Amino acid sequence: MVAVKVTSTNSLFSSASPCVVFFIVIAFVLSSAVLCDGGKTGVYARKPEKTGDMPLHSDVFRVPSGYNAPQQVHITQGDHVGKAVIVSWVTQDEPGSNTVVYWSENSNGKRKAEGKVKTYKFHNYTSGYIHHCIIRNLEYNTKYYYMVGDGDSIRKFRFTTPPRVGPDAPYTFGIIGDLGQTFDSNSTVAHYEQNPKKGQTVLYVGDLSYADNYPNHDNVRWDTWGRFIERSVAYQPWIWTVGNHELDFAPEIGETTPFKPYSNRYPVPYVESKSTSPFWYSIKRASAYIIVLSSYSAYGKFTPQYQWLQQEFPKVNRTETPWLIVLMHAPWYNSFNYPFMEGETMRVIYEPWFVKYKVDVVFSGHVHAYERSERVSNVAYNVVNGICTPVKDQSAPVYITIGDGGNMDGLVSNMSEPQPTYSAYRESSYGHAIFDIKNRTHAHYSWHRNHDGNPVEADSMWFFNRIWHRVDESSVSQ
Ligand SMILES: [Fe+2]
Repeated sequence: MVAVKVTSTNSLFSSASPCVVFFIVIAFVLSSAVLCDGGKTGVYARKPEKTGDMPLHSDVFRVPSGYNAPQQVHITQGDHVGKAVIVSWVTQDEPGSNTVVYWSENSNGKRKAEGKVKTYKFHNYTSGYIHHCIIRNLEYNTKYYYMVGDGDSIRKFRFTTPPRVGPDAPYTFGIIGDLGQTFDSNSTVAHYEQNPKKGQTVLYVGDLSYADNYPNHDNVRWDTWGRFIERSVAYQPWIWTVGNHELDFAPEIGETTPFKPYSNRYPVPYVESKSTSPFWYSIKRASAYIIVLSSYSAYGKFTPQYQWLQQEFPKVNRTETPWLIVLMHAPWYNSFNYPFMEGETMRVIYEPWFVKYKVDVVFSGHVHAYERSERVSNVAYNVVNGICTPVKDQSAPVYITIGDGGNMDGLVSNMSEPQPTYSAYRESSYGHAIFDIKNRTHAHYSWHRNHDGNPVEADSMWFFNRIWHRVDESSVSQ
């Protein structure tokens, strides 16, 4: 009879001494503990392949009927405190009227505001007539109707202003990022619209149309994106942050002005917060102070963005606006493997301020997935001391990556393993989030994946304000 050599772990154990086996078992138990030491990784099954953009003839891209009818109507906050709105729209055939007619729900008198019109060229594309008009001196907490266009092509919309800025003003923000214009993007917007929590304003964390993925950055896809999201952004403000897909830097076709299409189409109230650039600015809205940063503008020491932020943080009065929220595109804490560490240089420079001034939450995009961190900081490292591991820090923000809007680049599902301890929850699924401020101490946060029913919270936590109720949320039963 011929003996057969069996190679397996059993043979390893059978040939080892009891002492060696003991240490192997202990090592296995310890490694399992490390693997389980992080947060939770969602295992929801979703199709991994990319989905293309919706075709040009899709109903969501339909041009409104009527000669020169206003299209791509969108609004954003128009001042620092929420008493103004910027209304933007495009007319395709001729400039037409620059006037916005508006009135409050409870008044008979109609008022008018005059805007300006512009066009821009990008390689072989010429834009339609882009109108921007600021409506000022609005009443807080009031429903307004507004009309744009001429003659038979007038279109009517509505919005509601936020409550007066104050410490206990409740307000509900939606958060969307990296949306694009695929069928998944459409699902994200629909899911947000139907969420029973009813977001009142969207905090948009960058990467809008993904037009730059097309040959010559086909700006027609900026137009289709504008028509696609009109159904939400004509009725509630979206607060804009720039992402890498807004750069449209294309020297190979003679386009060397960064952010050119975005800047022409999506104005923001940056002057009101003493910023010198529309890519970084701040607003107050209800009980929140929102700082918007640009991951793709210079941010090192002595740069305009650095100087502005240095002066901005001390201005935040947490007695007036208890909730301090920061928006930026590239995340600082991200345990997915792509894109990896792109936010690191900004983190090294700015993170000490975020901890010092006790930012409540940072929303980012860029990574096409979802992740929520623990309250951690990583500010001790000074090159020579080797202290480079994030540690729990109750003065630090929670970092939320929500680049899962559904764009044509698809989801990222490759994660670093084991899940780092700072990562509380992560999942490679499309969705949006809601940050629901109740008062100066409490806000309820929830993430809603597209494949669930509208009310389902796939991830959630109660936020306790860093100034008014500084309790470790992770120590409290949610
Ligand atoms: Fe991005």
